[in-house]
Amino acid sequence: MRPKALVTHALLPDAMDFLAQHVDFEIGTSEVFLPKPILLEKVADKRGLLALLTVDIDRDVMDAAPLLEIIANCAVGTDNIDIDYARKKGIVVTNTPGVLTETTADLTWALILAVVRKIPQADRFLRNGSFEGWKLDLWLGREMTGKRLGIIGMGRIGRAVAERAKGFRMDIVYYDRRQLNADEERALGAASLSLDELLQTSDIVSIHASMTEGSYHLLSREKLALMKTDAVLINVARGPIVDERALADALENGRIWGAGLDVHEREPAVEDRLLKMDNVVLLPHIGSATYDTRLKMAMMAATNLVMALRGEKPPNPVI
Ligand code: DGY
Repeated sequence: MRPKALVTHALLPDAMDFLAQHVDFEIGTSEVFLPKPILLEKVADKRGLLALLTVDIDRDVMDAAPLLEIIANCAVGTDNIDIDYARKKGIVVTNTPGVLTETTADLTWALILAVVRKIPQADRFLRNGSFEGWKLDLWLGREMTGKRLGIIGMGRIGRAVAERAKGFRMDIVYYDRRQLNADEERALGAASLSLDELLQTSDIVSIHASMTEGSYHLLSREKLALMKTDAVLINVARGPIVDERALADALENGRIWGAGLDVHEREPAVEDRLLKMDNVVLLPHIGSATYDTRLKMAMMAATNLVMALRGEKPPNPVI
């Protein structure tokens, strides 16, 4: 008999075809959010669960599924899953590392440039008919060349962002609990700093840390107050790493110059004040959103699910 799995949301067609060859699956919902009671009911008789990052997989979910062997997350971040509890219950958890690194680094740079060159604002200005001709002081942005880029979290994505910064001849510094070795630092041209030093001296601060208990509000009100008044904050990692209300205060008071946010503390809600600010560029969590990358993520999650249900070791275990 083929194993039964719950796939919380439909994936891209090739990944659905692959799943259909190997498992009997049910789709959780066609809406963006899967209500918890429906999740609990549908997962009850399943051996596998393939989930998007918007689905909280907590103790209740795992307790409701006595047959559950694998949770395949279709994301590299696994902060939506109670990993400790899964470990306790002997449930394998997998993620999708590597395939979204370059795409997310590209988006980081798109966001940096959008903020410092005010691209969305200038686009809106032109569309609403305000462009009357070239002016010397029209939409003046900021230079990037030779500035200091401070990267918080020097994992795969942080490094890919640093690689791209070389093209802007930037001074690259980073903060990470694990310091790179000398060869890695030399190859990237990056120097390690304490978080406070990085915040005090960087022109662009870009967050690429993973979401853990330790990184919740890592950019607190106190830490934001250390940033230069002409600095820009970029977050493409996870919203709760930044105290969003404190950030809105800092931007409102001119404590920092601008921000680019692809992720938000209370997604899909966004701090009201940020929506009204012209020095902020806001995106709807699209860091990895290219067709190729999203297909790779979906195929990776599907492969992890199928292999685990066959009793084989899945390629991307988190635990
Ligand atoms: C992830 O995989 O964790 C990303 O946030 C999705 O782009």
